[in-house]
Amino acid sequence: MAIPESNKGIAIAIQAQGLSKHYGALQAVQDLHLNIPQGQFYGLLGPNGSGKTTTIHMLTTLARPTTGQARVAGFEVTTQSVAVRQAIGLVFQESALDPTMTVAENLRFAAALYNLPPPLANQRIDELLMLFNLQNKRQQRLTTLSGGMRRALDIARGVLHRPQILFLDEPTLGLDIPNRRAIWRFIEQLRREGMTVFLTTHYLEEAEACDRVDFLKQGRLISGGIPKQLTAKLGDYILELEAEEMDTVENRLKGRLGSALWEPGSLSFRVTDPQFSFASLQEELGNTVSAMRWRRPNLNDVFLWTLNDGVGD
Ligand SMILES: Nc1ncnc2c1ncn2[C@@H]1O[C@H](COP(=O)(O)OP(=O)(O)OP(=O)(O)O)[C@@H](O)[C@H]1O
Ligand SMILES: [Mg+2]
Repeated sequence: MAIPESNKGIAIAIQAQGLSKHYGALQAVQDLHLNIPQGQFYGLLGPNGSGKTTTIHMLTTLARPTTGQARVAGFEVTTQSVAVRQAIGLVFQESALDPTMTVAENLRFAAALYNLPPPLANQRIDELLMLFNLQNKRQQRLTTLSGGMRRALDIARGVLHRPQILFLDEPTLGLDIPNRRAIWRFIEQLRREGMTVFLTTHYLEEAEACDRVDFLKQGRLISGGIPKQLTAKLGDYILELEAEEMDTVENRLKGRLGSALWEPGSLSFRVTDPQFSFASLQEELGNTVSAMRWRRPNLNDVFLWTLNDGVGD
């Protein structure tokens, strides 16, 4: 089915219909539907191998969909790939920089690929190096930079040409907290300027800043929603229990709290009664449990429960 003309306007930044990618018998992405408005900060979450990078590769013209269609910035990804590439920035999961070149050479090389006139390129390179505090590393080869500095540079490379839409595949993987914060401050600034951001991350606390998140499970999209609403919908509390005989504890509580989520060494329950008495439960369970904790749900819980059964919209 063709994407309707009415949706080709500027309001939708990324649209996919029935997008699938098969590698032989492996269905890496299956029947994906997306409708991401311009300016949205969108998060695609899922475990290793669930198809996030493959989805980004299809949307950024690097992998040809097996079936289905997608439009990015209004352009069709297979027949208008050059226009798509001009409209987007991409920060790969694996670095796209040349480790043997210096910081400045890498950025100038990228600027040339984007056809930026040298004076504009130099101005942007100066701004970005300043922002990431890398001005004094300009003449250093990448092999002499820390992992965090290299990642910052990857992001600088991805936004050098001020794309309308930025794809970030695990942008902060392996970074320490100060570096992650610096990168997030920068992404926040880009968003305020109206850039659409498509993010994948394993750091779910980072995805809490997204306007919307969806989940991928074995290549299939499980519809999510607005992070705050998803956590509220999950329940009032998450109750975690540790016990010798976890089966017995689950059977005892299942009637009241529903099935548990099994994690290594513990059981989790969703508690949807704001008045739930944890003190009474503690008394009742006595020494059949060795630990009992309760806390407010977060996006990580939504992720685990969604992959388990589904709590999205
Ligand atoms: N070029 C390829 N050839 C064959 N199989 C591939 C190829 N690229 C990806 N796959 C497979 O497709 C599936 C999805 O991979 P993908 O890299 O999209 O996952 P992901 O969600 O990005 O995982 P991660 O969180 O580990 O980055 C995996 O089973 C992977 O092995
Ligand atoms: Mg990936």
